[in-house]
Amino acid sequence: MSTFAPAGLTPPYVLRTARLVVRCLEPADASQRKEAVDSSGEHLDEMFPRTPEGIPLEVHAAHVRKMRGSFDLDQDRGYGTFELETGRMLGETGLLKRAGLGALEISYWFRRDAVGRGLATEMASAMVKTAFEFDKVKRLDLMCLPENERSAAMARRLGFTFEGRLRDRQLAPHHTRADLLCFTLLDSEYPRTPASQLQLEAYDFLGRRIG
Ligand SMILES: CC(C)(COP(=O)(O)OP(=O)(O)OC[C@H]1O[C@@H](n2cnc3c(N)ncnc32)[C@H](O)[C@@H]1OP(=O)(O)O)[C@@H](O)C(=O)NCCC(=O)NCCS
Repeated sequence: MSTFAPAGLTPPYVLRTARLVVRCLEPADASQRKEAVDSSGEHLDEMFPRTPEGIPLEVHAAHVRKMRGSFDLDQDRGYGTFELETGRMLGETGLLKRAGLGALEISYWFRRDAVGRGLATEMASAMVKTAFEFDKVKRLDLMCLPENERSAAMARRLGFTFEGRLRDRQLAPHHTRADLLCFTLLDSEYPRTPASQLQLEAYDFLGRRIG
């Protein structure tokens, strides 16, 4: 089933789909990240609480640095997503370790003016494919707030199954404590998902093609 080269190489640092480049972040991405978040207004309130002057560039730079550090240490892997044609930053996606043994949790956000064209789904599909075919997870989790209908719709579009409403959860210090909807996708179910059919190129830390 796997389209990735045998284990032993680094995780994919760069992924390419038909319309996107999904890659490990670089310092210069901090200003693009600020522009993407500032221009998205209330659309991203759940992930980036707004202030009148916007989140300072230094805070974005600190996030990029933390995400990069974690990526290089084989901990959580957060990827920036860029339009293939223009290089414009569209959003972020990631594979988080907090799901436990043999499992990862997918995360994502997309800038407001780029949603609704299937690009966020293409980005998330690249993560799903990477999780099952490179990381070889047994299960991929997806969590969202009960009122986040777009995210729940994304989970269903990707082939995840709704497991239940987890009560009074807080998965990270910066999250608000709240109920969460839990969706999961198992490795036995993955071959029947659209993500398994995604055309995806993957490159390792040295830029070598691994998938
Ligand atoms: C969650 C989020 C990424 C979902 O975005 P989205 O717009 O639903 O996803 P897409 O951009 O892939 O667009 C999907 C829509 O485009 C349509 N579409 C158009 N062309 C398409 C194509 N080529 N392929 C797939 N879908 C396509 C789909 O039918 C779908 O339409 P629908 O919304 O009427 O069902 C986005 O709403 C977001 O960033 N929200 C804020 C952050 C957030 O909540 N993150 C998740 C926290 S848990």
